[in-house]
Amino acid sequence: MSDALDRQAAVDFVLTLRRRWADTLYPHVRGEFDQAGAPAGDTAAVQSAAHALPTYPWFAWLERGSQKMLWRAVADAVAGRVPCADSGSTGTTSLELDPTLVLPAWYTDWDIHLQPGGVWSTASAAAVYELGAKLVMLGENDDYRFHRLFAETAVPRRDYRRIVDLGCGFGKSTWPLKRAFPAAEVIGIDLAAPCLTLAAQRAGEQGLAIRFRQAAGDATGLEPGSVDLITSTMFVHEVPLGVLAEVFREAARLLAPGGLLRFLDFQPTGDAFRDLAMIEHGARNNEPFMPPMLRADLPAMARAAGLAGARWVAFDERSEGRLSELAWPARPEWHFPWAVLEAEQRA
Ligand SMILES: C[S@@+](CC[C@H](N)C(=O)[O-])C[C@H]1O[C@@H](n2cnc3c(N)ncnc32)[C@H](O)[C@@H]1O
Repeated sequence: MSDALDRQAAVDFVLTLRRRWADTLYPHVRGEFDQAGAPAGDTAAVQSAAHALPTYPWFAWLERGSQKMLWRAVADAVAGRVPCADSGSTGTTSLELDPTLVLPAWYTDWDIHLQPGGVWSTASAAAVYELGAKLVMLGENDDYRFHRLFAETAVPRRDYRRIVDLGCGFGKSTWPLKRAFPAAEVIGIDLAAPCLTLAAQRAGEQGLAIRFRQAAGDATGLEPGSVDLITSTMFVHEVPLGVLAEVFREAARLLAPGGLLRFLDFQPTGDAFRDLAMIEHGARNNEPFMPPMLRADLPAMARAAGLAGARWVAFDERSEGRLSELAWPARPEWHFPWAVLEAEQRA
């Protein structure tokens, strides 16, 4: 087998393993949990009942073990590929890196998602993350349909002048916003220079005029009252609650009267087993701020920052995207409990 085939085989193996974990192992453990009789009580009672199930250790180990395998396979597959913002650039995409920015310790101390070195520490980290993210989404978001659905169903149609996407990563949440609202100035904000560089390269390749700016989500450096829409996807569970409170304050500072906030993330479902699996996903996937975020009252945090109408609604990435209330259709396989936090600046 050639080297390239070898690397592709490793990626295919991990993807298949993760799919079977989600669509076969998870329903099996779930069945064991239901058969044992769901315990009444708090998370600790649910947790000890789940941990006693025969298949639970396999489920838990495979979740973490396959994630580690994923990064190894992906790093080999992209083998030092380094993004270059100039390649394919149309001259309309801009990249604003800040060499003086000090990354916070809570951000650099963890290999988030178990990606060795995180998404910020090496020039090739973003290329690794780009392929890894496809595998994490089980190959179901290869064309970023999911992010398009967010832009098209969770964001009201309006004539936005300026849109800011916080924690934009390598840009897959930002490009669809520019496509959906081509007249708006669109700005992607992230701490990670490698991600922003790849985001700008990919935007250039697609002919999308977007500003990618290295800054913290709680201190963007943009003018007060200058933003009509502020978004994020898969961002709020990655920051500590104290920083999140600052992010809401920054959003309130940036939003013009009547401006909108739309954050896509996760919420508890009320299904004890499923919610436990999600809380423990935080630990097994090195996402330390996810469990506190799932327990916190984010609408109350948004209100405390001065925003109005704050509430969560569910999001179904397989069909209509944003749903009208915080309730999801039943599904047997493991999947993320996606939800959209909505709020607005008073007019
Ligand atoms: C899971 S990624 C999501 C990327 C993209 N929004 C998406 O949906 O694919 C989270 C991103 O948030 C960034 N991030 C985390 N904390 C941040 C902060 N305080 N300020 C700005 N970006 C941050 C990370 O660097 C990472 O690129």
